[in-house]
Amino acid sequence: MNFLNRFFSKEPKTPRVNIKQRFELIGRVGQGSMSKVWRARDSQSGRVVALKVLHKEKTLELESRFIGLNKPKEGEIAVQLNHPHIVKTFEHGLTTDNEQFLVMEFIEGYSLSFLVEAQNEDMRTNCLKYMIQLGESIKYFHAENWIHRDICPRNILVNNDHELKLIDFGLVVPNTAPFLQPGNRTGTAAYMAPELIKRQKTSQKIDIFSYSVTCYEMLSKRLPWEAAETLDAVLQHINTPPENIQQLLPDLTPQVADAIMKGLELYPQDRWQTIEDMLEPLKAAFRVHQKLVETKTTPIVDSSDQSDISTSNVSSNPKRKRSTSDKTSRRAKQLRKTKKANKKPDSFDLHQDQAPQEVESTINSDREEKQSEDPPVKANRQPKKKKSSKHIPKNPDETL
Ligand SMILES: Nc1ncnc2c1ncn2[C@@H]1O[C@H](COP(=O)(O)OP(=O)(O)OP(=O)(O)O)[C@@H](O)[C@H]1O
Ligand SMILES: [Mg+2]
Repeated sequence: MNFLNRFFSKEPKTPRVNIKQRFELIGRVGQGSMSKVWRARDSQSGRVVALKVLHKEKTLELESRFIGLNKPKEGEIAVQLNHPHIVKTFEHGLTTDNEQFLVMEFIEGYSLSFLVEAQNEDMRTNCLKYMIQLGESIKYFHAENWIHRDICPRNILVNNDHELKLIDFGLVVPNTAPFLQPGNRTGTAAYMAPELIKRQKTSQKIDIFSYSVTCYEMLSKRLPWEAAETLDAVLQHINTPPENIQQLLPDLTPQVADAIMKGLELYPQDRWQTIEDMLEPLKAAFRVHQKLVETKTTPIVDSSDQSDISTSNVSSNPKRKRSTSDKTSRRAKQLRKTKKANKKPDSFDLHQDQAPQEVESTINSDREEKQSEDPPVKANRQPKKKKSSKHIPKNPDETL
């Protein structure tokens, strides 16, 4: 039957690629729930690439959930994306075994999950920068009219130049009416928006929710809600307000804390309406931090005076909303007063808690290892999988 379907199919025939012949597989770098990823040398271009081969049955199962909707394939979406904080995909196709494959730039570096766990110097110094870079990649993604549906640290890499790259477009859908209808609950449990869990109509705001969970975790190493392994746990998203990150991290710039908490709102209408809106206070806070780094003064978490500050990474946005900045500025001034006694002149961390000693030493040895002789596979050191990172299998009738 399959054979007949294929025989009469009007789809243009794609040439099959013998990947074993074309690529020298240097080493396995990842085993996602949907694929295998290798570091490989492409004999055609001569370059070292990341070769992602999708699991045939699981991909078919996922695609069957969008039957009749013409959902573009992961590779088709990936090759169209062109943004400094999104992994570059050079090519996609079908293997001689009929598996979908993608050829990408190889990102040498770390998984964001690793950095969340480590809370090392890199994370303490660059956390806000990474948050903004991730937000910028989502902004681009949304402008191109897609919904990512699986924003979480596992799907984000940071390269050795400290630049963030969003990966994995396996669950991406177009931001068009047929794909927003209630139904499919795909994603990673702890990062899934309440409306998605409740099988309600979705929108790009589900990515804003996942982004906010990710930011919360990047800063605090904790999820806003208990690990979401079971339906009960996931339903806490719906019924219990999350712990305010400001309480967890009293030194965190209130502007940043408020932005994240608004991204975690239960009802999409109470959340940031666009990722661009959410980025405004984050960028404003970043400009203040940059200025502090330049002038080497103590962090002053006052967002009111920043109109003339430019940064290399982010552009200033003149459309800043008064209400947000006024509110955060008032809170910031209060905080500043209480903090005057504990100045740390050379610390520009967003939050100034030191990482535990044992974490520090692990990171140092990792760094040394990384700089030593060409290790087989350097990318994507992942921490032990946390319960909270459970990936929800792509099965339409599944209950969590
Ligand atoms: N371009 C790349 N460069 C280096 N490593 C990569 C690259 N793309 C993917 N990887 C590694 O492979 C792993 C799996 O990739 P990816 O997330 O795309 O697969 P997946 O099967 O869709 O995953 P999931 O479990 O999220 O469904 C990543 O976590 C990362 O460690
Ligand atoms: Mg993934």
